[in-house]
Amino acid sequence: MSANKNTAIVGLQWGDEGKGKIVDLLTAKHDVIVRYNGGANAGHTVVVDDEKYALHLIPSGILYKDKLCVIGNGVVVDPVQLIKEIDTLRDRSIEIGNNLKVSDRAHVVMPYHKEHDAALERKLSQAAGKGDQSIGTTKRGIGPAYADKVHRATAIRMGDLLDHDVLLEKLKTTCSIRCAELTALGVEAPPLDPHALAEEYAEYGTQLTPHIIDTVYELHDCVNDGKSLLFEGANACLLDIDHGTFPFVTSSNCSTLGIHSGTGLPGKYVNNVVGIMKAYSTRVGAGPFPSEELGEIGEQIREKGNEYGTTTGRPRRCGWIDLVAVKYSAMICGTTSIACMLLDVLSGFDEIKLCVAYKLPDGTLSDRFIPDARRLALAEPIFETMAGWPEEIDDVTSPCDLPANAQAYLDRISEFLQLPISIVSVGPKRSQTVI
Ligand code: GDP
Ligand code: IMO
Ligand code: MG
Repeated sequence: MSANKNTAIVGLQWGDEGKGKIVDLLTAKHDVIVRYNGGANAGHTVVVDDEKYALHLIPSGILYKDKLCVIGNGVVVDPVQLIKEIDTLRDRSIEIGNNLKVSDRAHVVMPYHKEHDAALERKLSQAAGKGDQSIGTTKRGIGPAYADKVHRATAIRMGDLLDHDVLLEKLKTTCSIRCAELTALGVEAPPLDPHALAEEYAEYGTQLTPHIIDTVYELHDCVNDGKSLLFEGANACLLDIDHGTFPFVTSSNCSTLGIHSGTGLPGKYVNNVVGIMKAYSTRVGAGPFPSEELGEIGEQIREKGNEYGTTTGRPRRCGWIDLVAVKYSAMICGTTSIACMLLDVLSGFDEIKLCVAYKLPDGTLSDRFIPDARRLALAEPIFETMAGWPEEIDDVTSPCDLPANAQAYLDRISEFLQLPISIVSVGPKRSQTVI
């Protein structure tokens, strides 16, 4: 097989860069679409013929017929959400059968994980004398589910849902521990009943049985059969547990570094990495954001870009592009080309700013990103300013039809990142793409 046909799609900012749209576009050229990290904290939007789909767990390639979609072992799966997503897609005439495989080793998000997530956030938001210390999570139980994976003895994997007795034995231990923890977090609820939970989740296992397999062997078989893979990153590099703005991150390796552990495929199988970036910056939840615009400009970007969360509906924080941050993410992810998304949102600004360095508290300038929330919060953005363009560009399909100032903006980004921009997106639809 040709080793050069597998592609990774990864967000280079704080999420919601438009990964879903690009996965959908590139699915046409690949055979297998693979999620390797995160869970239902992701919200990937795909627009096909004016129909909008929001996908949380199922790979965005599912809208194509004859493509295999795989939820790898690195994902944390909420079976309730997965079944809901399958049903919603089926209601919209999308076929789901043998084309969806879920790793038997993917960890399960249980209801007590979601409760724990919400209770901990509540507790952190009222941390005595310290102000709000919460992360601003999606409350999808992601952190507690990954924590159980690391704890090991209290974890439940998708394969466990296929055996009621195994599940019940695990839940008997886990429920008593969870009850104590939830009570300590101030949750006043009846004790967790392992028998009821085992019944309910074994039933989800029955419903999902046709999909649950050893995806590691399946993916290696695909590679050996000459199939091409498209890896769909969820969340984004600056939210990576090891390389993001810790502790304001998610709980998985969402950079491309997570692909290998999250699928069982070694590094040699990732050939092209398309780094997805917005033409500006957004962030949902708490954490430092040096180029954030808190006034009218941020508001203008939010309204024009419809910057409200796909998963939680929260308004996204908005600001100018932070090239220091994007260059760092591109480095971590081994990015080979860039897709610059939502360029249309910048039409109408007289001038556009680009953060090209940080001023540190001691007065020195740095071109290095700071993947630590406390220190990054002290960095001041140093901006370059470029002229904007008044023209709307949402019907542009050829690079030469972009306004000269838009072209100059893209050229500056490409020069700064030392990477080619292979795709420019000027609207949510497939057709609103300049290649
Ligand atoms: P993801 O999480 O990275 O897949 O991104 P989301 O789907 O959460 O958010 C991106 C939003 O921008 C979605 O509503 C997309 O439909 C929309 N979108 C994608 N590309 C473009 C674009 O080029 N222009 C505009 N205006 N919207 C876009
Ligand atoms: P997609 O794939 C935007 C953010 C949350 C929060 C932090 C931790 O759609 O780009 P978590 O629930 O994961 O424990 O929350 O991470 N976050 C995202 N923000 N897009 C996402 O995914 C996100 N996934 C997690 O807002 O700040
Ligand atoms: Mg999203």
